[in-house]
Amino acid sequence: MLDRIYLALDFPNKTEANNLLRELPKGLGVKIGLELFLKEGLNYVKEVRNLGYNVFLDLKFHDIPRTVYGAVLQVAGFCDIVNVHASGGLEMLQAAKEASLKVESPPKLIGVTVLTSLSEANWQSVGGAQTIVRAVEKRALLCKEAGLDGVVCSPLEAKNIKNVCGSKFVTVTPGIRLESGLKEDQKRTATPKEAINMSCDYLVIGRPITKATDPAKALNAILREMES
Ligand code: C5P
Repeated sequence: MLDRIYLALDFPNKTEANNLLRELPKGLGVKIGLELFLKEGLNYVKEVRNLGYNVFLDLKFHDIPRTVYGAVLQVAGFCDIVNVHASGGLEMLQAAKEASLKVESPPKLIGVTVLTSLSEANWQSVGGAQTIVRAVEKRALLCKEAGLDGVVCSPLEAKNIKNVCGSKFVTVTPGIRLESGLKEDQKRTATPKEAINMSCDYLVIGRPITKATDPAKALNAILREMES
């Protein structure tokens, strides 16, 4: 189960990120997002990978096709998963896929459907005309059409995506919260156990572990829940 977790290293620098990693078992995937990447860059991505971690580089590219092509090409050789916003459209997704395949060991390319921090009301306020579930489904199908490996979505949408895109289409799900924990800025959440039961392949987990008083204990509790 450990390899189904991507720990969100949302830290301002590598010292803090490494301090946490030292407390946790190896075998866990790590997710490097904008905050840490903008400070430490690709060198840190390489460093973490050299330590044996699978790296999900969460930069959520969203631009015109040529720009996204160039961006994906810059990072594809150094990570195991990379992502782009599905709302960039078919041509952009195809360009991203083409770039990801240029390297010797291509990473999984996944599309962000609708951020898990958006509620139905937030979604409508940015112009969403259908329900989030339908929009996520539509974007997942677009990602599939472009040849992507899967999507980032809420655990609440994972089962439907597997139904419409097939069981091999990967679902990567943030918005994981323990029953007793805070939701913070996340809206469409589920517990680790619910996520596993709802066909999520990989769970992205940040603050429930990184902000815990004892991160190793929090991770163990999550693993026990997932295994049950
Ligand atoms: O701390 P928490 O568990 O909420 O962290 C979730 C992580 O997943 C964050 O790093 C966030 O950037 C990322 N993420 C997300 N929703 C998406 C895509 C990525 O929360 N749709």
